Amino acid sequence: MTETRTALVTGASRGIGAAIATGLASRGYDLVLNDIERQKADLEAVAENIRGMGRRVEIVFADVSDKEQVEAMALKALDAFGRIDALVNNAGILIAGEVDGLAEASWDAVMDINAKGSFMVIQSLLPSMKKRGYGRIVNIASIGGKHGAPQQAHYSASKAAVMGFSRVLAQEVGPLGITVNCVCPGIILTDMGRVNLDDPAVREAWQEKTAMARIGAPEDVVGPVAFFASDDAGFVTGQTLNVDGGIVFS
Ligand SMILES: NC(=O)c1ccc[n+]([C@@H]2O[C@H](COP(=O)([O-])OP(=O)(O)OC[C@H]3O[C@@H](n4cnc5c(N)ncnc54)[C@H](O)[C@@H]3O)[C@@H](O)[C@H]2O)c1
Repeated sequence: MTETRTALVTGASRGIGAAIATGLASRGYDLVLNDIERQKADLEAVAENIRGMGRRVEIVFADVSDKEQVEAMALKALDAFGRIDALVNNAGILIAGEVDGLAEASWDAVMDINAKGSFMVIQSLLPSMKKRGYGRIVNIASIGGKHGAPQQAHYSASKAAVMGFSRVLAQEVGPLGITVNCVCPGIILTDMGRVNLDDPAVREAWQEKTAMARIGAPEDVVGPVAFFASDDAGFVTGQTLNVDGGIVFS
């Protein structure tokens, strides 16, 4: 394809999402940037930076766990660019808590945003991808969905759900020219990552458990996402790739 590519990145105001959006822009994509309205200032800063790179940007505020807002986002995105080549489901939350005593509301919030949110954003853009016979869907899961850590059972369940969902969707839409893959970040220094990493002892322990002997940066996640979004990955679908510097070896 020689025309300019377009991507929609959810949760793009900071952390891994902002790095992915900026990294795709530097690879020539025009961007639809999503986040919740509370993140307005941060999202506008990311947009400004990308516009400075000469790329087109559309900002769409939407809570990915709200079907009405998600459907409105898809319409706005398609209105702005005519099509979305690559969808990156990155928006996510982590609420720490042991199973014993975990509030039902915490379980629901994590599942609604991490798992159901990805499903709903995909569902809102699938008809347009099917019509074109082209699409790249990249879901940001987590090594937490394979390995997990105490206080993250509901988070782990939500990310395992994303991986299972992606494998089946890959089979459903493969014949239509649409690929679906997951990237599983390891321990990445972001606002979410800081929940674990603020404690120097915890940080050191993770470094020791990591083959590359360091904590990841949001930029470490960009290349693998860009690969799955590209035509180089045209025959790769239903896969999960750990981007963790060597923590989980499967
Ligand atoms: N940081 C890590 O160590 C790590 C590891 C594995 C996976 N991940 C995953 O990577 C993704 C990005 O995480 P991060 O570390 O950059 O976290 P972060 O908290 O810095 O960023 C998450 C972004 O998602 C947005 N968001 C939250 N709820 C939303 C909603 N309902 N609708 C739209 N946007 C919403 C937030 O406002 C924020 O901008 C998440 O899916 C996370 O689970 C992170």
